[in-house]
This record gives sequence, structure tokens and C-alpha cells, in this order.
Amino acid sequence: MTGDRPPTIIRRSDEMRQRVRAAQAAGERVGFVPTMGSLHAGHTSLVERAASDCPAVAVSIFVNPIQFGPQEDFDRYPRDLAADCKRLAPHSVRWIYAPDVSEMYPPDHATRVEVAGPAEPFEGQLRPGHFAGVATVVCRLFHCVPADAAYFGAKDWQQTLVVKRMVADLGLPIDVVVCPTVRETDGLALSSRNAYLTAPQRQQATALSTALKQAQSDWQQGHAISDIEHRMAAILEAAAIAVDYATVVAADTLEPLAPSDQTTAAIALIAGRLGETRLIDNLSLPPRTQSPC
Ligand code: PAF
Repeated sequence: MTGDRPPTIIRRSDEMRQRVRAAQAAGERVGFVPTMGSLHAGHTSLVERAASDCPAVAVSIFVNPIQFGPQEDFDRYPRDLAADCKRLAPHSVRWIYAPDVSEMYPPDHATRVEVAGPAEPFEGQLRPGHFAGVATVVCRLFHCVPADAAYFGAKDWQQTLVVKRMVADLGLPIDVVVCPTVRETDGLALSSRNAYLTAPQRQQATALSTALKQAQSDWQQGHAISDIEHRMAAILEAAAIAVDYATVVAADTLEPLAPSDQTTAAIALIAGRLGETRLIDNLSLPPRTQSPC
């Protein structure tokens, strides 16, 4: 879909809220794509999906300081609002909400949204405070941009579960729509952090999707979960990727699966480090056609 008018950039939450409410009062469904900018085709696929569901689409661009740990890449995270606006120009985006930090977190702010359950394992363990930062900013954004539906990428699978849990637990009046991961032709999932990779690391990084595809095939052939996990880790290690986790768990809860379980929807999740750059990826595993051996 092509945008006929350039999006309006909005900096203040009261103005953003008022514009969304006015569109809704005029009978328009509003879709919302929260981002941290550094937009790529993964983000624009979310925008396209939002635009196909909703006549009015808002995209937020806000690099959220409180979801980065002290040793993480907040300072070097790419920021280029002009480039992001240009990337959004061909799409049907009505508003870009680009608040500054003091608008989102006034100096005396003192509230965090803590989600347990799906926020606890994996990224939650390795990045303490990360999901509290995500849940807090997403909750805050949902108040600034009181849309009817919000669109998130499946690449950050655990984040989608955390957001859905928060929305359900706090009774927030918004539909959460999870959209497929967009990949390069060689399988690498699009991520703003891919920009950090050197040329050799970019080659190595294809091992993430190779490991996931292997897991999918092993899963279908009925291999034991522990064997699938070892094989994923071996593929990553062979590409000199330091493995944070390579696991197969229940897709909706991230809990371990019983070895004989064939009906629960599963997901393979991986995280690994190439030098300073940490990448995550995942692949859904359809119900098995072969019994586990
Ligand atoms: O996925 C992201 O880009 C961020 O975690 C989000 C959801 C925009 C919150 O800052």
C-alpha cells in the first residue's frame, strides 16, 4: 500500500492521544507499530499488515533506555529519524510518534511494569531488567497511542509473549497481532543489530537460521528434544557463535516439553554472540508427524 501523504511527526503524548481518539471517534480503526527506529523491511512488513487491517496507522520511534542493561548497546544503537521517515514514506503511515526521553519518563517517574511467567527464562535471565523495561515502555506507549491493535514481529518471540501477558493481566484494550519474521534470502532474520556485523560475522550469522532449519527437520523426524538442542548448539559453535541458549520449548509458555508430548505447539529458540553483537532467532515447530525416538 502506498502512502498518499507524508506522516505527521508528533513529539508530545497528549497530542498523539488526541489524534488517535479523534480518528476513532470518526469511526477509524487505528493500528500501532512500536519500534526503536533503525527501520528495516521487518518493520515495514508490520506497517503493511497494520495498514491492511486499519485505515489509520501510527509508528512510534523511541530508543527505550530502560530496556538496555548497563553493558548493552544503548549508546551505539543506530538512530536516524530522517532515514526512518524516508523508509516509511512509501507506506500508509499517518503518524510517527517520536517522543524524547523526558516525555516518556519525566524526571520524577517511579513506576515499572514487571511481568513474571514468560518474562522469566532465556532473555529474562540473561538480560536482567530487560523485560521490565519493555513492558513499562509498551504499557506507556499504549496509553500515548491508544490504538485498537498493535503489531509485533515474531522474531522477538519472548517479547510477544510478555506483551500479551501484560495486556491480558492489565486488561489493556488493545489487540496484539504477531507477524511473521522477515528474512534475508540466505535465511538471516532481519534485525537492526545486523548492522553491527562485520562482513565475516555476517557470513557466520547464517548459522542461526541453519540451526533452526535443522531443528525443524529433526523435530519432524521425531528426534529427542535434547538431541535437537545439542545439534543446534553444535551448528552455532561450528560457526564460532558463542551460544547463550539453543532450546525447544512450549511456544506459548516457554516451559519445557515432556519428551512424549506431541500436541503442544513448540518453538526452537536460539541466542548467540558474534563478537560484541548478540542475535536471537526462533522457528515454530509444527506438530510432529513422527513419534519421538
Ligand atoms: O521490539 C522493539 O523494537 C522494542 O522492544 C519495543 C517493542 C519497540 C519496545 O521498546
